[in-house]
Parts: sequence; structure tokens; C-alpha cells
Amino acid sequence: MNKEDYLFYGAYAPILEIAENTVLEQIDAILKKNVNEGVHNPAEYIISRVKSADSMKEKLVRKGMDTDVLSAIKQMNDTVGIRIVTHFIGDVYTISDYLKQSDAWTIEEIKDYISNPKPNGYRSLHIILKMPLHGSELDFLPVEIQIRTIAMDCWASLEHQLKYKKNIPNADLIATELKRCSDEIASTDLSMQTIREMLAK
Ligand code: GTP
Ligand code: MG
Repeated sequence: MNKEDYLFYGAYAPILEIAENTVLEQIDAILKKNVNEGVHNPAEYIISRVKSADSMKEKLVRKGMDTDVLSAIKQMNDTVGIRIVTHFIGDVYTISDYLKQSDAWTIEEIKDYISNPKPNGYRSLHIILKMPLHGSELDFLPVEIQIRTIAMDCWASLEHQLKYKKNIPNADLIATELKRCSDEIASTDLSMQTIREMLAK
């Protein structure tokens, strides 16, 4: 968080940071428990962030919501966001199963945009956790976990630029090409999962 974020989140800033770190530590512990010697670690890398004040304010305005911090934190699922990136599709579901089994949190919602991609081609598995908070006036904090393959992640960062840049020439053509890339990635991700399973036998 930068200075502006601390100003916006005020007294809630430390709570958000604690929640972020606690979820990260739990995920780390779950992986350590399940990934013994010789077992492939399904998580290639993990990144996390507290939503910046700028993008929080932009989203609140866009959704016609009150811009005070407490209502923001209560209504937004992704004030704290974690992204887990894998090599293979199977790993996405392995991690999702691990997260479902943990009693550190409860699962609020699972959105499977891999089985049901968005029309633009967005693919990812989203899990909204309810992280219990102790010693705070908030009982819990929702945390959004996005799990996807490296290829899906690469696609999403490219598509994000299309979404947030204004006045892009050939935006329609780019959107069509992105959709095609997403379909090709889906097919390649599946083939690589199959090859991997054949090699594991
Ligand atoms: P917001 O989209 O965040 O307003 O919330 P929502 O309730 O519609 O949830 P959704 O599952 O659609 O999106 C949650 C998050 O997933 C977003 O904030 C993005 O980080 C990511 N995401 C969803 N859809 C897309 C997409 O089409 N492209 C990209 N690049 N990211 C997406
Ligand atoms: Mg959305």
C-alpha cells in the first residue's frame, strides 16, 4: 500500500494487511502439508495485493456505491485479492480442493470461468473466502482468490489493457483476436494436461 492507500483505508489499513498476510500464510501452510518430497507443487507462483485507493474509488463510483471506506470493505469481494498461477489446468482444481478443505475460512462463492468462460474469453477460477477477523468491528473480510494457468494469466493481463485503455484503434478487431487466442490457449492447456498425465503414468 502506498501513502494514498493508507489515507483512504485509514484505521482499516492494518486489518487489510493482516488479512492478506494471514491468507497467504494459510495457503503456504496448506501447500507445505500437501506437497511432500517428490510431489509436484501445483502453485507456480502467488501474488497478492490490497486494492489501490484509486481503483477502489473508481469501482465504487462505477457501481453507484457509497464511497466511504467501511461500506466499500463490506461490499467489495476483492479489497484483498490473491492470485495463484499454475502450469497446468489440473493444478487449478487441486489447489481449489485444498482451499475448500481448510477450516481457516468459509467459502462464500466459487465462480468457475474455466468451465464457463466469459464471452470475451476470460478464464479463471474464482473463490471468494470469508476470512474471520478477530479484534475488529468487522466479523470477517471477503477475500477473492483467482486461480489460473500461466497462459490464462498472460491472456488476462493483455485483455485488461484493452478494457482499461481508452480510444484504442481497432478495438473490435483486437477483441476478436483475443477471443481466438483464448480458445487456442484453452485447447493447448487441455493438450498439455493430457500429455502431463500420460508422462506421469
Ligand atoms: P468485478 O468484475 O470485479 O466488478 O466483480 P464481479 O462481481 O463482476 O466479479 P467477476 O468474477 O466478474 O470479476 C472479479 C475479478 O476478476 C475482476 O476484478 C478482475 O480482476 C477479474 N476479471 C473478471 N472478468 C474479467 C475479464 O473479462 N478480463 C480480465 N482481464 N479480468 C477479469
Ligand atoms: Mg465482473
